[in-house]
Amino acid sequence: MKIAIDGPAGAGKSTISRAVAERLGYVYIDTGAMYRCVGLRALNSGVDPSDAEAVEKILGGVDIDIKSRGGAPAFYLCGEDVTEKIRENPVSMAASSVAVIPAVRLKLVELQRALAAKADVVMDGRDIGTYVLPDAELKIYMTADPRERAMRRFKELAAKGGTPDLDQIEREIIARDKNDSEREFAPLRQAEDAVLLDTTKMTIPEVIGAILELAEKRSAEV
Ligand code: DC
Repeated sequence: MKIAIDGPAGAGKSTISRAVAERLGYVYIDTGAMYRCVGLRALNSGVDPSDAEAVEKILGGVDIDIKSRGGAPAFYLCGEDVTEKIRENPVSMAASSVAVIPAVRLKLVELQRALAAKADVVMDGRDIGTYVLPDAELKIYMTADPRERAMRRFKELAAKGGTPDLDQIEREIIARDKNDSEREFAPLRQAEDAVLLDTTKMTIPEVIGAILELAEKRSAEV
């Protein structure tokens, strides 16, 4: 079975997807991390992530490798472990910018479909249910209020010892939502056959439980 989990930035997709995959014994595929790798490559090459022509030129040199490390995916960009680096703030916006470029999407979607063809997967992103895996047996569209999403990110950064600014995080989240949902090619959108899960007032175990229940129902049907 293929499970597609889409939704805006900070809705908790990766935490939930990873846990659901673990519980079901499926492979978890974090497609956002792939866009982050391209964004990081652009920044490292001194290329403006919103300059389509320049990004296309460096795209051939983007080699992404995913390895499992202690049950969690580790991302290698041209041989370098970038698992931590791709989570940094400037990379988030760069990822959203390069994700607008069709050539970037086509390259990454090919990789995503090849991975999904090999195993049962939980894949999270923005366009998984609508574009990458339109035949996924279960599609979830996970969202939460922007303030709640900002608060979750704030707590994450504060726990790491940082001094984050909640209002700024919220502004960045809203800017990324706008960029991701207004782009022309495969924008962030709820698939018609996706189940909407608003996690604003839900705990992580509640969300995991809800998806596992849906997965169980679905697997009995297919
Ligand atoms: O899920 P994330 O925050 O790690 O994703 C980073 C960016 O990548 C996000 O702002 C939009 C883009 N993205 C995308 O366009 N399509 C996907 N399937 C996954 C991510």
